[in-house]
Amino acid sequence: MQAFQQLVFSGVQPTGNLHLGNYLGAITKFVALQDTHDCIYCVVDLHAITVAQKPSELTSNIREVTAAFIAAGIDPKKHIVFNQSQVAEHAELAWIFNCVARIGWLNRMTQFKEKAGKDRENASVGLYAYPTLMAADILVYRATHVPVGEDQKQHLELARDIAQKFNNDFLADNPAYADGKGFFPLPEPLIQGPATRVMSLRDGSKKMSKSDPSDNSRINLADDADTIAQKIRKAKTDPDALPSALDGLAGRPEADNLVGIYAALEDKTKLDILQQFGGGNFSTFKSALVDLTVAKLAPIGGEMRRLQADHAYIDSVLRDGANRARERAGATMSAVRDIVGFVR
Ligand code: TRP
Repeated sequence: MQAFQQLVFSGVQPTGNLHLGNYLGAITKFVALQDTHDCIYCVVDLHAITVAQKPSELTSNIREVTAAFIAAGIDPKKHIVFNQSQVAEHAELAWIFNCVARIGWLNRMTQFKEKAGKDRENASVGLYAYPTLMAADILVYRATHVPVGEDQKQHLELARDIAQKFNNDFLADNPAYADGKGFFPLPEPLIQGPATRVMSLRDGSKKMSKSDPSDNSRINLADDADTIAQKIRKAKTDPDALPSALDGLAGRPEADNLVGIYAALEDKTKLDILQQFGGGNFSTFKSALVDLTVAKLAPIGGEMRRLQADHAYIDSVLRDGANRARERAGATMSAVRDIVGFVR
């Protein structure tokens, strides 16, 4: 039995260069969930500063993500779109969660190990505590469903562990929670299949990444039609024709990636695409992929650039979203303060 009302929460870091991977892997899922769920989408600027950010770039990256959300079809009136730092309750609950989570739990987080690299002593304390803030983001709304990529699964498990331990530690002797359903729900990941993992256009074995030094390795959401077309035409391929069955893509990561992109943009399976293009030469498929990608992304990019330039509009969306988010987060925090035993 689900005792909590369903609520979707997710976050995107404003760290620049939003690309096709972010779009297909996250933003399109956020858009689709709006029809069936109450949704809160957060630009997680407090997470961004766990590694160094130039203040002026951070500001424009926050507006970039917000513009991308709206241009892609997220409705900030029906749902909530805001930036994390405007709702202080996230940081407040994160502190309490820092006192619930165990050092041993955080020591197991693989993303920290990757991001901190060899020089762990020099990583920020915030980077280490990143997962407790992420748990607070979700649980301050008592959200139940979290669309995330595979790479965030471990953080979501930690959020469940924190919710569970909070419920166990604080509610045991509290008559108001004698029904045993707990105060925080255990949030579930909504993980998209591996089919939407978008790889670099220059190397099919690497994920498409904002930090790849080659801009040709990725399609940025803000790219215009000509740039998109050029990048797809230049994308690495192999000399063989496209296969007609999935196993023919084995050992051909670049072909596999481009077929996957086509499938995701059309909301079809890779097999559907191979049945359409299999046997034909690669250039026929690539031309079709150019047309499809430009048709789907160029309008979003155009709208995104327009919105991004309209600071007054974007900032008012974020402010309005933050006001509505704060109301909900504030209600949770009042209850949490009572549960923990603070005087207020
Ligand atoms: N860590 C997530 C990422 O890098 C971003 C994030 C922060 C998030 N808080 C969240 C995602 C809460 C889902 C829910 O992708």
